[in-house]
Amino acid sequence: MDEWLIPQDWNRYEPAEHALWDRLFARQVALLSTRAAPAFLEGIDVLRMSKPGIPDFEELSKRLHAATGWTVAAVPGLIPEEAFFQNLANRRFVAGRFIRRPDQIDYLQEPDVFHDVFGHVPLLVNPVFADYMQAYGRGGLRSLQYGSLHRLARLYWYTVEFGLIRAATGFKLYGAGIVSSGSESRHALDSDSPHRLGFDLKRIMRTTYRIDDFQQNYFVIDSFEQLLRDTLETDFGPLYSELESQADIETGTLMPGDRVLTRGTQAHAMQRR
Ligand SMILES: [Fe+2]
Repeated sequence: MDEWLIPQDWNRYEPAEHALWDRLFARQVALLSTRAAPAFLEGIDVLRMSKPGIPDFEELSKRLHAATGWTVAAVPGLIPEEAFFQNLANRRFVAGRFIRRPDQIDYLQEPDVFHDVFGHVPLLVNPVFADYMQAYGRGGLRSLQYGSLHRLARLYWYTVEFGLIRAATGFKLYGAGIVSSGSESRHALDSDSPHRLGFDLKRIMRTTYRIDDFQQNYFVIDSFEQLLRDTLETDFGPLYSELESQADIETGTLMPGDRVLTRGTQAHAMQRR
């Protein structure tokens, strides 16, 4: 499990890299103060992430560990799934240590330290979400035996990366892929284009996703408790077998039985075609 970990080498960051973090941080916090889930904003506070510069993982881990027993460790980039899941199952979040180039400020496909740390770590302060991430890691290890990793990966995608949550004042953002992106932070909440559907674990596991553009559908959870409960109560083995015989649902498509919270125009996706 430890074989992929590397030192963060915090002292090796250049002033320009810290400055880029600060720029991204200021921009996202301004966007998110009204858009992000309260638990995410609370995590930023508890971890004192407003301290200037790229966070030192050691310091970050101390605060995070005190809250929920999680830690953060550096890895060279994407690591094999099994190692990734094992780390999650052991309450360790692995993060990229490099920061994007200034010309990639809006989008890059490979997760950098801003995506991984700003996007993912604040919610790990929330005890229920922290348990969900661990449960996901354990489920991931099991999914390898069933050859159903691509279905479980969709659950991660539509929750941990691109999830929305219902709040008293409307939908809020919690997915790391959204909250670490300026343009998707707006698109996910403000745009008429995407569908927003009620969370449905089985439906999600049948739904394809886009890695190269804004999402065409988002799934909205009622609470982190719902997410954790549905994941723990699902017997994934039989579910994977059941899904074998069901066709995938293409992203952006509505199905009978969907809980449609807002029906999107899909204008953004159609324009791109
Ligand atoms: Fe991510």
